Amino acid sequence: MMTNKVVVNADIEKGIINKNIYGHFSEHLGRCIYEGFWVGEDSPIPNTNGIRNDVVAALKNIDIPVLRWPGGCFADEYHWKDGIGPRESRKRMVNTHWGGVVENNHFGTHEFMMLCDMLETEPYICGNVGSGTVQEMSEWVEYMTFDGESPMANWRQENGREKPWDLKYFGVGNENWGCGGNMRPEYYADLYRQYQTYVRNYGENKIYKIAGGANIDDYRWTEVLMREAHWLMDGLSLHYYTIPGDFWKGKGAALDPSEKEWFITMKRALHIDELITKHSTIMDKYDPEKRIGMIVDEWGTWFDVEPGTNPGFLYQQNTIRDALVAGVHFHIFHDHSDRVQMANIAQTVNVLQAMILTEGEKMILTPTYHVFEMFKVHQDATKLDIDVKSNTYELDGEELPSVSASASRDKAGKVNISLCNLNHKEETEVKIQLRGLQDRIEKISGRLLTASETNAHNTFDQPENVKPEALESFTVEGDELTVTLPAMAVAVVTIG
Ligand code: AHR
Repeated sequence: MMTNKVVVNADIEKGIINKNIYGHFSEHLGRCIYEGFWVGEDSPIPNTNGIRNDVVAALKNIDIPVLRWPGGCFADEYHWKDGIGPRESRKRMVNTHWGGVVENNHFGTHEFMMLCDMLETEPYICGNVGSGTVQEMSEWVEYMTFDGESPMANWRQENGREKPWDLKYFGVGNENWGCGGNMRPEYYADLYRQYQTYVRNYGENKIYKIAGGANIDDYRWTEVLMREAHWLMDGLSLHYYTIPGDFWKGKGAALDPSEKEWFITMKRALHIDELITKHSTIMDKYDPEKRIGMIVDEWGTWFDVEPGTNPGFLYQQNTIRDALVAGVHFHIFHDHSDRVQMANIAQTVNVLQAMILTEGEKMILTPTYHVFEMFKVHQDATKLDIDVKSNTYELDGEELPSVSASASRDKAGKVNISLCNLNHKEETEVKIQLRGLQDRIEKISGRLLTASETNAHNTFDQPENVKPEALESFTVEGDELTVTLPAMAVAVVTIG
């Protein structure tokens, strides 16, 4: 067994890891909003004002900092006025993008804001540029945030909400290069400039405006948006999904990955580092002070849907492989925390790389959920300098690092080091030199998420197949901590 060498310099601080990196995304897609969150007040599933209690309790436990809604592609077809007022008279329509199912608009602005209150999370609303008007977007912001007499504020009050809501994050369209209008960057940049003008700050409410950014490695999109509109935006988005296969010809199954599929998944997860680096370099040209946040508001695994499920619902299982993908992304986001101010995994419940899966009244937590729970110690913590010399993980002549790691100090002074072993079949030893932590070295504990098969996942019959356990496999000598990570493992070691 080769040894990996890590040095943590606790005296060298590298800024704050924005808690919003641990953000989420929920779209009117498949069973995410309807069934995942919203079951209605008359449902036999225990709920509070229509929102299911089990899902809220589970999500509160991972401290969701921000929740993006209503899409995704749905956002550019969503007309917010259809989703307010008495529910029984709201428009029933077709969700044209996702499965052609009936959208009854029972979950609208008031319900979303209520959900955010229950979760104690910041709302992040994505407006409609693709098929909506400037007036519609402007009035939505007025409806939500104006405190005083105005047509929209009066209407909000008639609908039962006296005071405006606090709304910070607002996206001006989604994927405007694709489902959000198939635009060229030059055209969208002009529309962004126009639409954002009427996204007003009312009273004390200050909106953080997020421009629709690039897909994957479309660097020209970032260049044009920054050149034409950088002074008018607070954030610019980036979307990147980890797909082991081909998006159109077959993405690969969520379950039973071959060795090769596992390896490619890790390789493609690590690729986000290059994407962030290159998009950041372009942003640096126009914004060297890094005022504008990179907002990775869609990321995660995207596999073929589970056999027998609606192809438009994007329902997939979630295994230990997804847990590794999440861990690797977080470490990369931490490394870029001077530019990456928010990230939102797609999507919270029942869609793509979900935290939670439901089946009627049943609910299970996925391996990805457990990574969010273990890593919540990094939220708003001070990032510490770390040097990782990893040995290699090889398959068919290709090489990846087997270990990825990150360290931070929380507000109580505890240091948390998270570690991933990407290798699907070999355990690995990590020697961590703890510089500047001599006085705390006696107090070390750890947690581990691992599995013995690449396919390991939770089911409604066996909901606890994959869950965190205590990390026992470590020793300390002087200032050196040695951790043996099993194959396919995510761990968090706490010092102090
Ligand atoms: O998350 C699923 C879809 O992926 C979103 O609606 C869209 O923005 C992206 O293409």
